[in-house]
Amino acid sequence: MLKVASNKKKRLYYHFVVFLVGAVFLIIANTVLGIGKEFQIFGKEWFVFAILAWLFLFLIHVFNVFITNRFMGKAWEQQQMEKLMSKQQARIEKIKTELKKEAPHIAESEIYNEELKAIEKTSELTIIVAAGENDAIGKDNKLIWHLSDDLKRFKKLTSEHHIIMGRKTFESFPKPLPNRTHVVISRQPSYQAPDGVIVVNSLERAIEVAKNDVQPFIIGGGQIYQQAISLADKIEITRVHSEFEADTFFPKIDLSIWKEIDNVFHKKDSEHEHEFSFITYIKK
Ligand SMILES: NC(=O)c1ccc[n+]([C@@H]2O[C@H](COP(=O)([O-])OP(=O)(O)OC[C@H]3O[C@@H](n4cnc5c(N)ncnc54)[C@H](OP(=O)(O)O)[C@@H]3O)[C@@H](O)[C@H]2O)c1
Repeated sequence: MLKVASNKKKRLYYHFVVFLVGAVFLIIANTVLGIGKEFQIFGKEWFVFAILAWLFLFLIHVFNVFITNRFMGKAWEQQQMEKLMSKQQARIEKIKTELKKEAPHIAESEIYNEELKAIEKTSELTIIVAAGENDAIGKDNKLIWHLSDDLKRFKKLTSEHHIIMGRKTFESFPKPLPNRTHVVISRQPSYQAPDGVIVVNSLERAIEVAKNDVQPFIIGGGQIYQQAISLADKIEITRVHSEFEADTFFPKIDLSIWKEIDNVFHKKDSEHEHEFSFITYIKK
């Protein structure tokens, strides 16, 4: 920065010398060599005006180096920036000290908020599903297999709870299942269901309806699982260890989001034509 300033001054000095030499040359050119001897402006020789014009340019140069550049040049800008930065630094330091003082209170309130959330979130929204190795869950609005222990487990887990389902899954039952509150999701404004069956027009509304249940279950089908998987806290899946032809599938379980916490294998036998495992996942 200093080098730039001294270069400017050096250039100004050269300008001054050239100006002096030039002025002498103009005087000699007119008075001794007789160049433009007859040419006068307001009764004065032309070199007087030429020297004055040059002097004016020189003064502009002086002004530029000592005034404009000093107050608005790069060095001045840098100086202002440094001042501003040191002020901001002082402010940051002040905020840091204040934050240190406040940190214990903030920590306390965070713990308090977490506790509050835990109190507020008392229900565990659980997906229950049976899916093949290729995630197949249904074909032609029917289940693909008959696994008696899986049905028993479904009954045991869901009894006395809300079971949330899509309209198509509801229609795949011959009649509503006993000892469970059915919440059926449909976009049809006047969808008719038997007495006791709650009909809602969105998944969010279904979850809201079941909010006082400690463990409401999402029981399918494909469309509803797809929408519910990001909202659920738990998945109870019966993984049937075969691949099936199907038209409805369960979404992929993302193991970066879900953690397996239980896995019970079941062999093939007279009542079960496929091997399967009861697997429980919870959200990490
Ligand atoms: N393996 C298993 O564990 C399992 C479990 C359950 C079902 N299943 C199988 O899955 C199949 C049925 O699944 P699916 O995907 O075809 O149908 P679904 O999910 O049972 O129901 C779809 C219907 O739900 C309603 N719906 C969906 N999203 C909605 C939203 N955001 N708002 C309002 N309404 C909404 C619509 O009803 P409207 O058309 O009336 O508007 C839609 O047609 C069957 O094959 C069944 O056997 C398998």
